[in-house]
This record gives sequence, C-alpha cells and structure tokens, in this order.
Amino acid sequence: MIDMELEQTLLTILADGQEYTERELCERLAVEPTRLMQAARAWLDLGLELCLSPNGSYRLAEALELLDRQRIMADLSEEARTRLSCLEVYRLLDSTNTYLLHKAHEQWPSGAVCLSECQQSGRGRKGRSWQSPFGAGLFGSLLWRFDGTPTALSGLSLATGIAVARALRVLGVAEVGLKWPNDVLWRERKLGGILLESGSSAGALHVVAGIGLNVALPPQATRAIDQPWVDLREILGKKEASRNRLAALLINELVAVFERFERGGFANLAEEWMNFDLSAGRRVRLHLPNATVTGIVRGVDASGALLLEGADGQISTHLGGEISLRFEA
Ligand code: BTN
Repeated sequence: MIDMELEQTLLTILADGQEYTERELCERLAVEPTRLMQAARAWLDLGLELCLSPNGSYRLAEALELLDRQRIMADLSEEARTRLSCLEVYRLLDSTNTYLLHKAHEQWPSGAVCLSECQQSGRGRKGRSWQSPFGAGLFGSLLWRFDGTPTALSGLSLATGIAVARALRVLGVAEVGLKWPNDVLWRERKLGGILLESGSSAGALHVVAGIGLNVALPPQATRAIDQPWVDLREILGKKEASRNRLAALLINELVAVFERFERGGFANLAEEWMNFDLSAGRRVRLHLPNATVTGIVRGVDASGALLLEGADGQISTHLGGEISLRFEA
C-alpha cells in the first residue's frame, strides 16, 4: 500500500471513534508499527484529534463522518446535477477559493464545486484567516460564470447567504439568520461565513463563492476565534450534523439561488432576504473603509445595499465587501 492509501485506510477505520490497539491496526493494514505511526503522524500534522494512549492504542477524539463524493452526488437535486460541471473532494488544500480562482483562469467551466476536509490557509473576509482543521467544518467553493459587468454581481454575496441559510434550515437549524452582508449566525453567534471573490478570464466574469461552516470545532481551533461562535454539533447534536447531507443541501441551494440571480439579480431574492435578516430594525455601527457611522437598519435595496437611517432621519445606502457591521446594544 502506498503511503496515501495507507493513511486513508487508517482514517476510514478510526472514523467510528472506537479504540484500536496497535496490533489490531497493524494486522488490518498489513504494516509494521513504524509505518502505522508514520501514517498516524500525517493525520496529526493535519490537525486531526487523534489520541495515542500510552498502552499503544489509537482512537479519534470523536467519531468523524468523512466527506464522501458519492453520497453527496446521490443527494443532489436534478437542477444541481444539470448545472454542476464537477464536484471534487480533497483532503487538503491551501484554500478552496484559491484553488477555484486558479481553475477559473485555466478556463474551467461554470458550476465547478470543490470541497476540502481541511485548509492550510483558509481565508476569511478582510484578510482574516479561517480556522479549517481536518473534518471540523464544511469548507467549500463554487465557481460560476456570469454575463455582463461587475455591477451585475451586486447583491450576490447576500444571495449566497440566502442559499446557506436555506440549506441550514432544511438540515434543522431553525434559528439561522444572516447579518448583512453575509455572516451566518445562530442566536447571534457565528456559525459560518462567506467569501466571494470575482475576476475575469478571457473577457468574461467569474465568481468564486466560498463557504465555511462550523460543524464540530476542536478546542484548539476555537482559541483562535475572536468572536462568539457556535457549531452544528452544539445546535443539532453530532449525529444530525451530517457533513455529506449538509454539502448536498448547500450545493442544491447554491445552484438554485445562483440560477435565480442570473435571471433577475438580487431583486429576485430581496424579499426572501427579509426571512433571514437579523439586522433590520437594529441599531448598528458600520465600519466603512475610511469612517464609522451609526444608525438603524431599514433593510436592503434591490441591489443588496444596506439602508441605514441616521440620527437626522436620512437614509444612506451602503454597498461593498469591505464594510463590516456591528450590532449596538
Ligand atoms: C468570513 O470571514 O466570514 C468568511 C469565511 C469564508 C471561509 C470559506 S472556507 C471555504 C472557502 N475557502 C476559503 O479560503 N475561504 C472560504
């Protein structure tokens, strides 16, 4: 067995969360203890919580549902199957967004989806990093090509939020909401985030929509998160938080929403935004690139711009990826 195959088989055995002795594993994998240890080390290096006990037994800190391309494909809607050009599942990438941005320049067609069990340099909004330890979340991106100019994409990041929120509701997360422009929250704690990046290749516009959802974060990853957060394990319990089902639901909703957006832009989805909007009627502070303003949110317009009512009663509109919004008490 080559190293990669050995590592994968070891993980498939350990994924049930049970304890296995070194002897048992060596026998099943037909390898010497040194090779077993090397394979285990490869997983530890990827941030997997693999416990090696002093008596020589191996166990994952908790059971893990590995991403399974076939299971995801089996749960896709007819519409998603038609529009998807490929679905790739990796165990490690630097970032699913970076990967698909490169592929966009290699002329990959619209509808490419890529998921990764773990990201070495997961990226968040405003240059932040995104914690992506092995199997702890759903980390994925969709490449989509659009006609027209970049202004045609206005509101697409909110539309992506709608797709994510729809998928989470179907999974059973009743209280999911969206904080403008696209933070995915549950009871005001961050459950996921969206990073939209656009570019052009051969004169045509493309977008990579990256989504990161917290499924079951290990303690060491949570120490690096500087805001209230939550994961699906806490909301639904470990069993219900199936990453394969979530991945399929997410792809189905992303395709449905992107198709709808193609036909009529954000105006086609603005009404649905209200179902998930956690900002409307709230007093907020907006951090703009060069200023900070406060006011009460009065919803969004047909392009997805935030409508903010100032102390003078005037409404100002705000659009752009580099704006962040904080709720005021
Ligand atoms: C945020 O800061 O709220 C956005 C986080 C987006 C993270 C996802 S994980 C999959 C995709 N690949 C990345 O590098 N980032 C996005």
